[in-house]
Amino acid sequence: MDNRDRKQYAPATERNRQPILEVLQKVIPKEGNILEIASGTGEHACFFAPYFPNQQWIPSDPDRLLRLSIEAWREDCTGNNLQLPLDINVTLPDWDEKLDDSAIAVIIAINLIHISPWSACQGLMKGVGKLLHSGGILYLYGPYKQKGKHTAPSNEAFDQSLQFRNPAWGVRNLEDVVELAEKYQLILHQIISMPANNLSLIFHHL
Ligand SMILES: C[S@@+](CC[C@H](N)C(=O)[O-])C[C@H]1O[C@@H](n2cnc3c(N)ncnc32)[C@H](O)[C@@H]1O
Repeated sequence: MDNRDRKQYAPATERNRQPILEVLQKVIPKEGNILEIASGTGEHACFFAPYFPNQQWIPSDPDRLLRLSIEAWREDCTGNNLQLPLDINVTLPDWDEKLDDSAIAVIIAINLIHISPWSACQGLMKGVGKLLHSGGILYLYGPYKQKGKHTAPSNEAFDQSLQFRNPAWGVRNLEDVVELAEKYQLILHQIISMPANNLSLIFHHL
């Protein structure tokens, strides 16, 4: 299979990558590696990694074909700090033990927790709580309900379409995510409004 056959494309990444990058450039510290959970096609990783040349960008996805896509994008990526993708499924116990915890300063999950069962959010928070040290950063991006209500008709329609595809999926309630994170010493530090009614959430490890 050549590179073109392995590469997958998610058109939304081209729309959201620049606004996400602008947030990441503000919140990512100058040192420490960056672990990306649910990297999907790898387009984000390939776009973001060159902006953080002194840090390793570690992509991951549990889907084998997506890991092949990440590898294909990686081959065309400028710079040399994008690592090979790891097979990480955050619903598996102790997924965090695959990593050398001391090196991870930031963990990123873009469009994961609404397109997976709630158990993925639970597993994500538990592992992130163990992997990050004090001051470490968790970055989440996606749509959220607030106080149980949708913030835009488009998010409500999206939520319905997700639940139609899989009843365990759905736009999460911000307050539930924040409460779960706190159980693992991850404290919401900042909420940033993003285009298309999405939010960037920045958590700091106590
Ligand atoms: C909507 S895609 C988002 C991909 C990418 N972050 C983006 O924004 O284009 C959701 C991704 O979550 C991954 N995923 C689903 N369940 C997961 C789990 N339990 N642990 C880690 N990743 C998971 C899927 O394989 C898929 O790549």
